[in-house]
Amino acid sequence: MIDDLLSIEDLDAGMITRILDTAEGLKDIAVRPIKKVPVLRGRTVCNLFYEDSTRTRISFEVAEKRLSADVINFSAKGSSVSKGESLKDTALTLQAMGVDAIVIRHSSSGAPRRLTEWVDAKVLNAGDGWHQHPTQALLDLFTIRERMGRLEGLNVAICGDVVHSRVARSLVQGLRIMGAEVTLVGPPTLMPAQVDSWDVAVSHDLDGMLADLDVCYLLRVQNERMAEQFFPSVREYARIWGMDIDRLEVMPEHAIVMHPGPMNRGVEISADVADAEQAVIVDQVTNGVAVRMACLYLMLGGEDTTGPETPSGGSKGGGARVAPLGKHGGEQAGADSEVTPA
Ligand code: NCD
Repeated sequence: MIDDLLSIEDLDAGMITRILDTAEGLKDIAVRPIKKVPVLRGRTVCNLFYEDSTRTRISFEVAEKRLSADVINFSAKGSSVSKGESLKDTALTLQAMGVDAIVIRHSSSGAPRRLTEWVDAKVLNAGDGWHQHPTQALLDLFTIRERMGRLEGLNVAICGDVVHSRVARSLVQGLRIMGAEVTLVGPPTLMPAQVDSWDVAVSHDLDGMLADLDVCYLLRVQNERMAEQFFPSVREYARIWGMDIDRLEVMPEHAIVMHPGPMNRGVEISADVADAEQAVIVDQVTNGVAVRMACLYLMLGGEDTTGPETPSGGSKGGGARVAPLGKHGGEQAGADSEVTPA
């Protein structure tokens, strides 16, 4: 059971399946004329962003509003207070105002966990330093499962700037928990020093593995985190590690290309691949809202012992309730009484 969502490692396969199933049930709200359900009415969620973000911040805000929560957006950009102090002071202020959940993005790894020591509110990690980005991993797992019909046994390459990537750290763990095979691909300079302990294969030959892939997941080259030069030139990087149409054609027909965004078009992914049929990058964004709705719902939506009625239900057939994760939540996904469509 979870009260906070800090790391993918805190979840097991049953909980991940439960979140994905719940998201599946919530996804159709986005195509209704009125995109709102009252399940978090009266709950207050604060988006506390200490680091730049476009899609994650907007995605959480859309998810919160679709569930009818009251939303506070706090952007710490430009604060002159030192990070530790300002985070604690801000946490205590939010606590005093009675917020029910805090979504936090912070450049320091571990900041979300620290926050849980100061507040009673549920804490959702929206990305901390190089450490974790659990909702990104969940939306990626959702998107892969939606396209491929399963996660177990899939052959996934995660390619590029692994060393600076919280997305890679979270997604590797999520994929391994769900039984997929993962290979990290990229220049040796962009692989983490402790990669041997990651339970993945490592390759420096992208071309050699393309024909066997189900998923090629491209990471953004994170220039803002590079104090030194990690590869000779952008052109060289694109030539050896960039996904272009020639490489896409070597991949199996059913294979998909993913990217968490924001993309450096022409560097890790060419513009024509980004817009190709096999690229599911826009689906990732769409699914991000549903997955974040599911996380918020499962963490906040069921403080009574029965759980509120689900707005549109899950994928398993039957009744109309979604039990929460956390204090009153069940441990396993898929129990018919827990995730069921209306
Ligand atoms: C990622 C992030 O911020 O960690 N983006 C995102 O959340 N959509 C990846 C990145 O910035 O490259």
